[in-house]
Amino acid sequence: MEEKIDLSNLPKHIAVIMDGNGRWAKKQGAMRIFGHHHGIRSVRDTVEACSEIGIKYLTLYTFSTENWNRPKLEVDGIMQLLVKTIRDEVPELHKNNVKLKSIGDKDQLPSRARRELDEAIEMTKDNTGLTLILALSYSGKWDIIQAVKSIAGEVKAGKMAVEDINETNFCEYLATEEAPDVDLLIRTGGDHRISNYLLWQSAYAELLFMDDIYWPEFRKEHLFNAVLTYQQRERRFGKTGDQVKST
Ligand code: IPE
Ligand code: IPE
Ligand code: MG
Repeated sequence: MEEKIDLSNLPKHIAVIMDGNGRWAKKQGAMRIFGHHHGIRSVRDTVEACSEIGIKYLTLYTFSTENWNRPKLEVDGIMQLLVKTIRDEVPELHKNNVKLKSIGDKDQLPSRARRELDEAIEMTKDNTGLTLILALSYSGKWDIIQAVKSIAGEVKAGKMAVEDINETNFCEYLATEEAPDVDLLIRTGGDHRISNYLLWQSAYAELLFMDDIYWPEFRKEHLFNAVLTYQQRERRFGKTGDQVKST
């Protein structure tokens, strides 16, 4: 299947809403945290698959602003898992030339998780392969607000004029910084919603809901399949189909 992918028409930026861990665990009579543990293998597969075909940016919805409202036991379990996973996986990521980044309200994270994350980001900062962005304590509305606050600060300090604010420079203030807009947004688990993810950045993303699988079941083949589906879509960006075909 991988051979069928057209390497000249790859999505530059893939974003994933890794959903369904809890339901997957429940299906086998296990605790929700069991599902989160099994989701790590899927993350590894996704990162490897993206690296193999040459995707430049992958953003994974790892923990949302709203997820802080879950029971403390689950939140603590996820944070512990985060620390352990970064520690275990980063050497391999580094070996594979992956550059790790994060977006979200880092101050909300437990200090151990923050430290582990900062070290991993520092260690991989000069890598030139896939940029892997973990969305942690992230929400699209949080991102837009923090960008607006930064811009307002610049205006107040006289460094920027209100008339100069535009779509291009606004992007630079978003947490995703230099990453291009999302081309392909995948959600597993059966729900058809954005859940406050990359709101601005997904304005023209192709949405792909993979209803038949929960996140812990996601494998390389699913990623390759998703890219193939993306390549069958006609992206019109407001133009007509005829216009797009003639270019
Ligand atoms: C996604 O799976 C992982 C996180 C939100 C951290 P869920 O935990 O939302 O699993 P479901 O949707 O309840 O099955
Ligand atoms: C979205 O999943 C967040 C992550 C995958 C980290 P949720 O399971 O939290 O989304 P909702 O609440 O069902 O919309
Ligand atoms: Mg969910």
